[in-house]
Amino acid sequence: MCGIVGYIGKRQAAPIILDGLAKLEYRGYDSAGMAVFDGEKVNVKKAVGRLKVLEELTHDGATMPGTVGIGHTRWATHGAPSDVNSHPHFNGDKTIMVVHNGIIENYIPLRAKLQKKGYEFVSETDTEVVAQMLDYYYDGNPMETILKVLHRIEGSYALGIMFADHPGELFAARKGSPLVVGQSEDGCFIASDVPAILKYTRTVYFVDEQEVVRLEPDHMHFYTLDEEEIEKQPTTIEWDADAAEKAGYEHFMLKEMYEQPKTVTDTLLPRIKKDTIEIEELGLSDEEIARIRKIHIVACGSAYHAGVTGKYVIEGLARIPVEVDLASEFRYRNPILEEGAMVIVISQSGETADTLAALRESKARGFKVLGIVNVVGSSIAREADNVMYTWAGPEIAVATTKAYSAQLIALYLLAMKFASVKKTIKEEEYKKLLRDLKRLPDQIELLLNNKKNIQHFANRYIGARDIFFIGRGIDYAISLEGSLKLKEISYIHSEAYAAGELKHGTISLIEEGTLVAAVSTQPELYQKTISNMVEVKARGAFVLAVTNEGNKEIEKAADYVIYIPETNPYFANSLAIIPLQLFGYYVAVGRGCDVDKPRNLAKSVTVE
Ligand code: AGP
Repeated sequence: MCGIVGYIGKRQAAPIILDGLAKLEYRGYDSAGMAVFDGEKVNVKKAVGRLKVLEELTHDGATMPGTVGIGHTRWATHGAPSDVNSHPHFNGDKTIMVVHNGIIENYIPLRAKLQKKGYEFVSETDTEVVAQMLDYYYDGNPMETILKVLHRIEGSYALGIMFADHPGELFAARKGSPLVVGQSEDGCFIASDVPAILKYTRTVYFVDEQEVVRLEPDHMHFYTLDEEEIEKQPTTIEWDADAAEKAGYEHFMLKEMYEQPKTVTDTLLPRIKKDTIEIEELGLSDEEIARIRKIHIVACGSAYHAGVTGKYVIEGLARIPVEVDLASEFRYRNPILEEGAMVIVISQSGETADTLAALRESKARGFKVLGIVNVVGSSIAREADNVMYTWAGPEIAVATTKAYSAQLIALYLLAMKFASVKKTIKEEEYKKLLRDLKRLPDQIELLLNNKKNIQHFANRYIGARDIFFIGRGIDYAISLEGSLKLKEISYIHSEAYAAGELKHGTISLIEEGTLVAAVSTQPELYQKTISNMVEVKARGAFVLAVTNEGNKEIEKAADYVIYIPETNPYFANSLAIIPLQLFGYYVAVGRGCDVDKPRNLAKSVTVE
């Protein structure tokens, strides 16, 4: 995920570009670069490292005079972070400059074709191929050249493009990666996201799929890929600059929680065609699926918790044995991978060192690895044999919510696909499961709208010392994630326990008023969990129950009950986790914690 900014107008471009890039640093920060036309030629400066390095290199833009330019902050996908791999990329004589966010999926054959025609490439990136293709097709007409190239590239892009012999114009194009353009009395702007230009204008145009924009100092023209000019309506941004990054929410975490209906939908629907689950990216034929003897799921943190749910769902529906491992354990325990084993690694960032190591260990032993990954083009995505993306979009808050929910969906889809191939479920059950899957986004929305009650309840526990989460089966997996959500952002000690295990020691920690959150969404385990609730209540606990609508019996054992809508028990995690996410969030807010950037944590643990 990268950030791009462009400007053309009356003012000096470099300071505006640097300022915009600083607002996008959450999108990518391993290198940065800028190209500005100085009246005669285009000057380019780029540097590995944070944006600060580029600011210092250019004296905050002072050494790059000119009123038209483009800039970029990079989160490396193709090619390691380095000066030469930083954007902008350009053609041989530096007359065409390109900044790009996205993945050009067919860059290898395109690069080979150009190399055959004598083109030389200096970087390992996919983006440089775009710059060289523009050079190859350039006939003096920028727009026609751009359209020729866009018709030939596959994948996703948000592009900023400038031509040294057309300094009165800037160009932008979008397919699959976000892009906005804006206008003020001082000029016109390109940006990956609104915050980059909000300081200069509140009048923006969200560039739609496969649209191309030609920007002049005082005007913008929008085109389709067929060069048909189109009219677009501007959007007036009401948010303030800080809120713009959070789309009006107080924290990224809350924004991302509210994006869950969309991320569940975006992960689910593209894989359901004519009421049949199709996971093309799985890379396994039905025959190969039928031969799977065991599945190893390997991950860390919340991704591991999703994997624990995956175990119950895949074993329950497809009757394939599943072993779930913490990646940091898996990689060093000399795991036993037998013939017919399949390895699935789960990672939001796709950069978690332990998970990447587990992937490499599995591949080194000759086993195919499926990655369930959120960040397109991340290391795990690139090294896995096959990738099932969770289309959750950029997740900024350190505490994962929307990506976790999308991981659950990916695992449900896999379980149902495997069950369908192995015929371990009947057509009737398959249809009912599909119906319940499709209802999840609306049900999540419903639960999110209950935030006021959760906030009110959470405020009672901002001073708590210990909070326990208990559950059986899938409810244990839900408890694991509910406990982590709370402790990682509120710093309150919390443990998740298999409810049946509590009396083997930990129950000694229960005191008068200790909060125990009992998750009970599995009907065949209701009674067992109620017994555990009674046990802790007898020792003074205050019991919060999260259970299915209709399970009224639980009220005799619980002090406070949160009901979730009816769904298949296999999918209950997707619903029960919502109030627990909100609970953790509001406890942390009540304690004045830095919700989006909790102490000691990083969004991606890229070291052991
Ligand atoms: C979850 O809220 C934490 N941010 C953390 O446990 C995270 O899930 C873990 O580090 C794994 O990260 P990944 O999904 O990017 O591999």
